[in-house]
Amino acid sequence: MCGIIGFAGRVEAAPILLEGLSRMEYRGYDSAGIAVRSDNWGLQAKKAKGRLEALYGLTHGGADLDGPLGIGHTRWATHGEPNDCNAHPHISEDGRIALVHNGIIENYLEIKENLLRKGIRFTSDTDTEVVVQLLGYHYQQCGSMLEAVGRVLRRIEGSYAFGIICSDYPNALIAARKDSPLILGYGENGNFIASDVTAILKYTRDVSYMEDGEIAVVTAESVDVFDQELTPLDKKRCRVDWDVSAAEKGGYPHFMFKEILEQPEAVRKTVSPRVQNGRVALDGFSMTAEEVRNLSRIYIVACGSAYHVGVVCKYIWERLLRRPVEVCLASEFRYSAPLVDRNSLVIIISQSGETLDSMAALREAKRLGGRTLAVVNVVGSSIAREADSVIYTWAGPEIAVATTKAYSTQLVLMDLIGLYLGDLLGTVPGGEYEAILKGLAELPDKMRACLDQIQEMQYLGSRYFNHDSVFFIGRNLDYAMGLEASLKLKEISYIHSEAYASGELKHGTISLIEEGTLVVALGTHAALFDKAMSNVVEVKARGAEVLALTTERYRERMEKIADAAIVVPDTHPILQPSLGVIPLQLFAYYVALQRGCDIDKPRNLAKSVTVE
Ligand code: G6P
Repeated sequence: MCGIIGFAGRVEAAPILLEGLSRMEYRGYDSAGIAVRSDNWGLQAKKAKGRLEALYGLTHGGADLDGPLGIGHTRWATHGEPNDCNAHPHISEDGRIALVHNGIIENYLEIKENLLRKGIRFTSDTDTEVVVQLLGYHYQQCGSMLEAVGRVLRRIEGSYAFGIICSDYPNALIAARKDSPLILGYGENGNFIASDVTAILKYTRDVSYMEDGEIAVVTAESVDVFDQELTPLDKKRCRVDWDVSAAEKGGYPHFMFKEILEQPEAVRKTVSPRVQNGRVALDGFSMTAEEVRNLSRIYIVACGSAYHVGVVCKYIWERLLRRPVEVCLASEFRYSAPLVDRNSLVIIISQSGETLDSMAALREAKRLGGRTLAVVNVVGSSIAREADSVIYTWAGPEIAVATTKAYSTQLVLMDLIGLYLGDLLGTVPGGEYEAILKGLAELPDKMRACLDQIQEMQYLGSRYFNHDSVFFIGRNLDYAMGLEASLKLKEISYIHSEAYASGELKHGTISLIEEGTLVVALGTHAALFDKAMSNVVEVKARGAEVLALTTERYRERMEKIADAAIVVPDTHPILQPSLGVIPLQLFAYYVALQRGCDIDKPRNLAKSVTVE
C-alpha cells in the first residue's frame, strides 16, 4: 500500500506532488507528506496526519514550499501508528536526504540496532526511517548518492519503491524498486516517478515500468535507468491510453457510485471485442486442445473480491469443463504446498496487478513449473508483466477502494475464458456455448435495467441501515455472489455481515437468527429456487427480516414471502451473478451513505494491498 510520487522539473513541484497524491489516496490515507528542494531553502518537508486535505491546508496547496524538485507520499500504516512523525518523507539525521517508501523493510530492526550503536538518533517507529538513516550514513562515507543507494539496496531485505532527494543534488531525484510498483513518467515540464499511472496522467501518458533491482536518476531533462551494478539500461516507453476523466469523479458524489454506473459499458468493452463470428477470440492467450486435455489441474488464485470471482467461476467452469477447478486465496496458496506442475494452469485474478500475495502466488506457481495466466485490469502492472500470458479486463481506472466494475469485468472475462477452454475440450453442453455468448451480449442492457432501480435501492438502504448484523444466504452461484455482496456491505458500512451457504444454516448460523435479524436471501439460481424458498421460510419462522433478491421469473413467489424483494432480469443461469451483484452493490452503497461512512475510503483499508 502507500503511494509515492516524485517530480524533477522546470516548474514548482509541490502543487504537482499534491495533485498526484490526491489521485493515489486510495492506496492509503492515514497521513501524507511532501519534501521539496529549493536553492534558497534546501530541503523542506511537511507532513500531516489524516487525509490529504490536512496536508493541503498545512502547505496552502503547496504554495509554502518552493522548488522544482520533490517527493510525496500517502500512507497506509504498517510500522508505527498513523501520526506526523511516522508519516513520510523521512529525513536523514543530518537533514540532507529525504525519502519516501512503499513496501516493507523486513530486516529493519537489525539495521536499526547497528545504526543506534553508531549514535544515530531516530524520530519515528517506521521501518522506512532506517533506510534513510542508513543512506545518510553511507553518503557521509562515500560522498556519492548513487553509490550510497547501491550500498543500501544491497543491505536491505523486503519490498520497496523509493523516491529520494538530497539537498546536495539540486536537479535529480533517485528512485529504486523491488516488489513494489514504480513507474517513470516523461512530461513536458519535467519527469516523474509514481506508484501508479493515475497520479501523473494529468501531465503525461508516456511512461516506462521500472523492474525489480533497477535504479533511476530523474532530472527535468532526462531519465536514466541502471541495474544494481550501475550499468545503464535502455527502457522501453509505453503510451497509456486511459482517459484522464475516467479517473475523476465528474460530478458524481462518490467514485464508487460512478463506477457502479460504469459497469454496463465496462462489461461491453471487455466482452465485445473478444467475440468474433460467434466464437470467443482471446487476445494474448491461446492453448491447443491437447494442452487443455493434458491439464492436470486448474487453479484460480486471488485476493478479496477477485477471489470471489474465482468462487463464482469454480461453479461455472466445472460445469463447462467437467474438470476440477481449485480456487485459492493467494495468501494461503504459497504456504499450502500447492500441487502445481508443468501440466497445471494457474490463473491469477487481480484488478491492480500489484497485490503482494497474488504476486507471490504467481511466482510460486512459476517456480513449480506451472503455466500462468493473469487476468488483470492495470496495464503494465507487475502481475501482468510476470505472468506467461495476460488478458486484460477493460474496466478503466477504478478508484473507490471497494471494487465494483473491476469485479464485474473479471467475472465476464472469466466466463469467456471458461467457454474458450470448454470449447477446446468439447465439454460445453449442447447449445450452451451460443446461449452464453448471447447472454453476454445482452448483459450490458440488462445491467442497465438493474441500475434503473436506484431509487428502490436508496429506499432499502434507508430501511435497513441501522441493522448491526446481516446474513447473506444462498446456494451455489447465489452463495458465491453472496460472498461478494457481504464483503461490499461490511467494508464500506462497517456492519458485521456474513455470507452463508444456505444449506449450512442449520449447522450453526441459524442460532444467531432472532427477532428482526436482517437476512438477505439470494434466490436467483433457477435450479435451486425451491430450496432457497425453504430457507427463507426457515429464517422467517425464527423472526428474521428477509430482504430477498430474485429474478423476474420468481418475483411473485418471492414477494409473497419476503419482507422486501429486489428483482433483476432473467439471463442465462451462469450469468445471473453478473446481474444480481449490481443491486447489492447499490444496497451496500446506500446503507453506508445513511450511516455517514466514508464510502470511497473506508477505514483501515486500501485499494492496492502491497504488503503481506
Ligand atoms: C483490496 C481491495 C479489493 C480487492 C483486493 C484484491 O482488498 O480493496 O477490492 O478485491 O484488494 O486486489 P486486486 O488488485 O489484486 O484485485
